Amino acid sequence: MSNPYLSERIQRIQPSPTLAVDARAKELKAAGEDVCGFGAGEPDFGTPDFIVEAGVEALRGGKTRYAPAPGLPELRAALARKYREENGLAGCEPAQVIVSPGGKYSCFLAIQAVCNPGDEVLLPVPYWVSYPEMIRLSEGTPVLLPAGPESGYRVTAEQVREAITDRTRLLILNSPNNPTGAVYPPEWIREIVEVCAEKDVLLLSDEIYEDLLYGEAEHLSPASLSDRAAEIVLTVAGFSKTYAMTGWRLGTLVAPPAIAKAIASYQSQTTSNATTFAQYGALAALEQRDRAKEAVAGMREVFDRRRLRLLEGLRAIDGIECFPSEGAFYLFPDIGALGVAPADFARRLLDQQLVAVVAGEGFGSDRGIRLSYATADETIEKGLERLANFVRSGGYRADS
Ligand SMILES: Cc1ncc(COP(=O)(O)O)c(C=O)c1O
Repeated sequence: MSNPYLSERIQRIQPSPTLAVDARAKELKAAGEDVCGFGAGEPDFGTPDFIVEAGVEALRGGKTRYAPAPGLPELRAALARKYREENGLAGCEPAQVIVSPGGKYSCFLAIQAVCNPGDEVLLPVPYWVSYPEMIRLSEGTPVLLPAGPESGYRVTAEQVREAITDRTRLLILNSPNNPTGAVYPPEWIREIVEVCAEKDVLLLSDEIYEDLLYGEAEHLSPASLSDRAAEIVLTVAGFSKTYAMTGWRLGTLVAPPAIAKAIASYQSQTTSNATTFAQYGALAALEQRDRAKEAVAGMREVFDRRRLRLLEGLRAIDGIECFPSEGAFYLFPDIGALGVAPADFARRLLDQQLVAVVAGEGFGSDRGIRLSYATADETIEKGLERLANFVRSGGYRADS
């Protein structure tokens, strides 16, 4: 409903269609119901101890004041080194690195920095829920590129080429992907970057799940491909998913120097710096690399086991198909054959079987539901049993 005091800009923002089920799941849980939750977009692990210690030590040591807007110099330097040595961004300098209050804000900053009113932003569908709204906040126009199960939930370089017009400013790629878990093979990325370079289109590469890869999947940072690639790619990542630090609110952004400088000014006038003592925790993850990698490997092993079990269980249900995704901690089964909208499916599943999943509509899909396997093994077993029951009994067809 429109309100005379609200700006046009804020009225353009859509509330998340996924919230209704989420709110209901929380309500049921609070009422003591045994809800199997597959909704979480965050690891169910605690932050590794040595990172927590470093944050606590920073607090006790008086690191409670403002930090420079683009981030602590030592953290920016450690991140630049990580990007050079682990991601192959050969010339990455600390001045190109911004530390922000979350990967989400890094995406927002990147889009704000490069998108003019009327610019077109190419967005593969299914997409992470926040991108279209961020594009609209920049007064840009999302141009949706279908990326369904046939192509492993990935867009091809050819699709990108065909969608480019003289208004195209930016392509957003998110690999490993939320909500599908898809990972782009290096060759696809190479081809897509070539098209962007040729057409002078910028690329926002959201690599927040870069460390959560399974099976044969490999991560490639597009900015590492060439000097030209480094001129057109803005790389977003962060600490939330890799190190189970969602509540710390720490994201990163690597951009060409002039763009990074402009973004630092934008951040200085909006949020100032990301929380100072939290940045010291993040620094420990980069300075104590072996410990950090060991902690991540431990979480990855658990996620992978759950991924394979959930995949097997979903594929055993008649009417559900599931692409064997190899990244992040999501599976995105296709329920198209059941002939029901994902939002109705999700609502009925929660009401009848107390299983919470996220409906595809919020990600631009009318055939998928997202299940996060960042949840206990028992929840996966119990949830699969209930889901199988629900589909077998036709419960998805009508509200109880
Ligand atoms: C694709 C993607 N990008 C960015 C983010 C933002 O992460 P953060 O919690 O660091 O803001 C998320 C979080 O769900 C995500 O799924």
